Amino acid sequence: MMAAIPQHIAIIMDGNGRWAKKNGLPRKAGHKKGAEVFQTISRYCEKIGVKALTVYAFSTENWSRSADEVNALMELFHQYLVDAFKQEGETSRVRFIGRKDRLSDKLVKLMTEIEQQSSEYPGMILNIAVDYGGRDEIVEIAKSLAVDYAEGRIGPEDFNEASFDERTFTAGCPPVDFILRPSGEERLSNFLLWQAAYSELIYMDVLWPDFTPAHLDQAIEEFNRRNRRFGGRS
Ligand code: IPE
Ligand code: IPE
Ligand code: MG
Repeated sequence: MMAAIPQHIAIIMDGNGRWAKKNGLPRKAGHKKGAEVFQTISRYCEKIGVKALTVYAFSTENWSRSADEVNALMELFHQYLVDAFKQEGETSRVRFIGRKDRLSDKLVKLMTEIEQQSSEYPGMILNIAVDYGGRDEIVEIAKSLAVDYAEGRIGPEDFNEASFDERTFTAGCPPVDFILRPSGEERLSNFLLWQAAYSELIYMDVLWPDFTPAHLDQAIEEFNRRNRRFGGRS
């Protein structure tokens, strides 16, 4: 029997550096291959009927890498967006989640164009996390509630799970069914901390640039074997 398709998948696209090393290539080449794999996997998710896909492309902590690597990533990211999303035939609704104030004006402009251009598309919601941190997201939510409180729009009773949910970057998406991390690492690294409350965590021992649709099928099968209880009885 075909496994049930999850509504919302989140992926930590990790292992590009190790893949490059394994193949005797510069780290940048690993990131380039990783971007290609991202394209393949996001198309595949859309094809099989996933409603929302959230991918971790650059964390708030990734700025601590060498200037060389950060610059290469930003350039690659820009080039990738130009190539991928300006083509005909894209149907995903793209949203960039994360901070915008530390990215170049040029990149932010392109991101905004892509969000606007794709906002009415009929397909999957594709959240791309760039300069994203789960803690940063929660702090921003707290700040926006504080501003509304200070300006008299809401009272203390409006600080609740629903109002936090509404202000997350993934508001309007179905709950995250599972967070997938290839590369062998078993941690969240500051990804979707609020949203992860009841997500299944699936770790796979494959480097992201080697990841294929068949690996995603395996992850979906694993997800279907999990017994989700949400605190209730099984
Ligand atoms: C993921 O690959 C891409 C980013 C974090 C930008 P890494 O660059 O973390 O690859 P590894 O973990 O060093 O193999
Ligand atoms: C998480 O991977 C961030 C992305 C994949 C974008 P990292 O490689 O930065 O995480 P750590 O350092 O292994 O925790
Ligand atoms: Mg890594």
